[in-house]
Amino acid sequence: MINKCEMQLLEWIKAAFEKAFGSEHDWSWLQVQPASDKQFGDFQCSDAMQAARTLRMAPRAIAEAAVAALPLPETLTKVEVAGPGFINLTVNKEWLSSQVESLAATDNFGIPNVGKGSTVVIDYSSPNVAKPMHIGHIRSTVIGAAIDRIYRALGYKVIADNHMGDWGTQFGIMIKGYRTCLTEEERENLTVDLLERAYVASYNKTKDEEGWIDECRAELVKLQQGDPENRAVWKRFIEISLDEFNRVYKRLDVSFDLYRGESYYHDMLAETIQLLEEKGLAEESEGALVVKLEDEGMPVCIVRKSDGGFNYATTDIATVRSRIADFKPDKIVYVTDERQQLHFKQFFTVCNKLGCETKLEHVWFGLMRLPEGTFSTREGNVIKLEVLLDEAERRALEIIKSAGRDLSEEEQKKLAAQIGISAIKYADLSHDPQTLITFTWEKALALDGNSGPYLQYAYARMCSLLDKYADRVENTAPLNNKLLLDTPVERELVLKLLQFPGTVLRASEAYKPSILADYLFTLAQLYSRFYQSSPVLKADDDVRDSRIKLCAMAAKAMNEGMTLLGLSTPRRI
Ligand code: ARG
Repeated sequence: MINKCEMQLLEWIKAAFEKAFGSEHDWSWLQVQPASDKQFGDFQCSDAMQAARTLRMAPRAIAEAAVAALPLPETLTKVEVAGPGFINLTVNKEWLSSQVESLAATDNFGIPNVGKGSTVVIDYSSPNVAKPMHIGHIRSTVIGAAIDRIYRALGYKVIADNHMGDWGTQFGIMIKGYRTCLTEEERENLTVDLLERAYVASYNKTKDEEGWIDECRAELVKLQQGDPENRAVWKRFIEISLDEFNRVYKRLDVSFDLYRGESYYHDMLAETIQLLEEKGLAEESEGALVVKLEDEGMPVCIVRKSDGGFNYATTDIATVRSRIADFKPDKIVYVTDERQQLHFKQFFTVCNKLGCETKLEHVWFGLMRLPEGTFSTREGNVIKLEVLLDEAERRALEIIKSAGRDLSEEEQKKLAAQIGISAIKYADLSHDPQTLITFTWEKALALDGNSGPYLQYAYARMCSLLDKYADRVENTAPLNNKLLLDTPVERELVLKLLQFPGTVLRASEAYKPSILADYLFTLAQLYSRFYQSSPVLKADDDVRDSRIKLCAMAAKAMNEGMTLLGLSTPRRI
């Protein structure tokens, strides 16, 4: 059960079933949903079919007996049984108005405060130092940030932690590459691209040149033992990478509470291993230390390699312990691409074996496919995020220019950034994260399809109507007007608005911002149907005032929902 209004109807339905068939049966599973076809009612209950199994009666007879058992509550004007046993409920206008008014009167359109008192750590974006962020990281960043905002809106205390890959064997290879494969000048004007080049060159030498790998290892040991020179170089790698990451975060309007990279946990690794040994969970195997996960149907989880080094899983186990100690979270949510599923399953299982009670959730997404040529750089097929964002803004600017709006150069650029970046985000958020999607500019920027610009355009149209109304009627508080709700589309719009809080809740429970995106898209479409069929400013005063109130409510829900997804909401496009 998700929306307050449905809850009230459900109470009546439950009471009716209980009256008709007795309280010895469990009726807690009954549900009321928005009607799929609004012709027959506003809400429906289709559980008579299910009840038929226990009651051994025809579903239609069950539905009829249930609705006859109790008088109609004031809320309902009509209850009808249809087809094989659907119960269709039609609510009265006053109730509908008061329900939606109570949502519109809140700051966030009625999003329930279910998270009050709970803490959630969300680990997202988490790119690797000295490597350019790739397309997988944009998905983690955009999806993670939307989940982050949704949880905050629900009242959770959220700790957004960027678990950057800033530690590990690659740094030995990198330090060596930095010292030997770059020119003095390149070292002075270091960029992430140069670092990556140095790494690749050095890595190739580990295969071609005898002794190279040992020298890299020696650099790593020095780094780990705190050698000041290697530490300084490593710190510089992090600084340069962070500069680049932060540029992207700024453009995406994303921020974190913490940037605890893997290195933060280095000193906790030994004690984590010790704990695993004490609890008898880890054992030697071919020189390495492993936790066997045979019973769980998984390969062993290596926690210490045969060369004595720790690995990704060890750090993640230590990280969970550290987060629990510091924040006592109710859950920790990780957002990464699908390729890491086994890793998460493995170390979650190890954490459970260690007695961790915090809920651990891996939210994974499929990689986005880019059609050939959408994004290949000269060097190869690496998709650089910043290039993607630049291109989005450039294309949005072209569209703005061709629309011929009277805007200064600066205003055009600002709008292009808002439209372009939101288009990229929405292309990501509008799909179920676990499906394979193919990105195309045409879809991402389409003004007439399921796209970011479409939502922005719908919202701007609402705002422009509100502005016109305010000019003409000099009423700046349309939310105080009286609702009439005399046409089917108006009713439908209100019923849709009533679904907003429950939709946000469902998106949080499923970790799928796409649920909210779908909702906003249908809301925008419905609004557009309403707008096209219902004159507002030219209507009689009372109708006009009621319709503008609907527009104001739709705008409020739209704005709230888009903001949760991280989309910008310019009032004019
Ligand atoms: N740095 C990793 C990568 O780029 C993602 C880290 C995800 N978070 C974690 N706690 N393992 O693939």
